[in-house]
Amino acid sequence: MPQVLEFSDVVVRRNARDIVDHLQWSVADDQRWVILGPNGAGKTTLLQLAATLIHPTSGQVDVLGERLGRTDVFELRPRIGFASSAMARRVPPEETVLNVVLTAAFSVLGRWNEAYEDIDERRALRVLAEWRLDHLADRTFGTLSDGEQKRVQIARAVMTDPEILLLDEPTASLDLGAREELLTLLSGYAKAPTTPAMIMVTHHVEEIPVGFTHVLLLNAGRAVAAGPIAQTLTAEALTDTFGQPIVLTEDGGRYAARAAH
Ligand SMILES: Nc1ncnc2c1ncn2[C@@H]1O[C@H](COP(=O)(O)OP(=O)(O)OP(=O)(O)O)[C@@H](O)[C@H]1O
Ligand SMILES: [Mg+2]
Repeated sequence: MPQVLEFSDVVVRRNARDIVDHLQWSVADDQRWVILGPNGAGKTTLLQLAATLIHPTSGQVDVLGERLGRTDVFELRPRIGFASSAMARRVPPEETVLNVVLTAAFSVLGRWNEAYEDIDERRALRVLAEWRLDHLADRTFGTLSDGEQKRVQIARAVMTDPEILLLDEPTASLDLGAREELLTLLSGYAKAPTTPAMIMVTHHVEEIPVGFTHVLLLNAGRAVAAGPIAQTLTAEALTDTFGQPIVLTEDGGRYAARAAH
């Protein structure tokens, strides 16, 4: 399987501290990764590298076969979908949901004519339906609930048919029902053969969608463990990652963790 990401001895240094510390990591195009780790572990920083928004201080980052520092990131970025709350904050609240998704295509195509307008609008409506947002197409982004806004961010990220989909805490701040609904959508998407490589950051093993294949456990910029979920996600590895004794249970591909007292 072709590699969509290849991190080799990657260091990101900020204020004389290695917030990514000699990391090796590779992601193949049929893999769906979850990144778990405590606050400040470097999860968002890894997504920013993968999204070509930052460069490593040392080491090599290859994204879709192109090496950061030797390639035009503006050509790479349209091939990468990235949904995060930082990006959602930049969406004008008065923009309609349809436009939030549709404009993802315009920024890529960089042109506007009627033929494209039609094709793009049809695709945007299809993507909205896929993420159960069709009934909200005409609502303004600012009037949506957090859960609805999260789904719009993802719909915008997949609109351009990316080759890597990066999701930074897509389930944060959702209520139980909204979280479960989004996890079901993410599971369905993860299992479809046409879906690109996915990398999702989360704080909770409860939020790993069924169908995700790999996990990277991160602490202080280092990989504590990385590999297929079934072998890698263990109580021991979580204990090392979070620095306290953890008990882990699994039921039908869903996980639950708590402190061991
Ligand atoms: N530009 C910067 N300058 C200084 N420190 C930074 C910078 N960017 C990130 N950091 C620090 O690097 C560490 C990793 O940050 P990062 O946002 O990647 O963590 P995270 O794992 O996503 O955390 P969280 O779970 O809280 O979102 C943090 O301690 C953060 O304060
Ligand atoms: Mg983060």
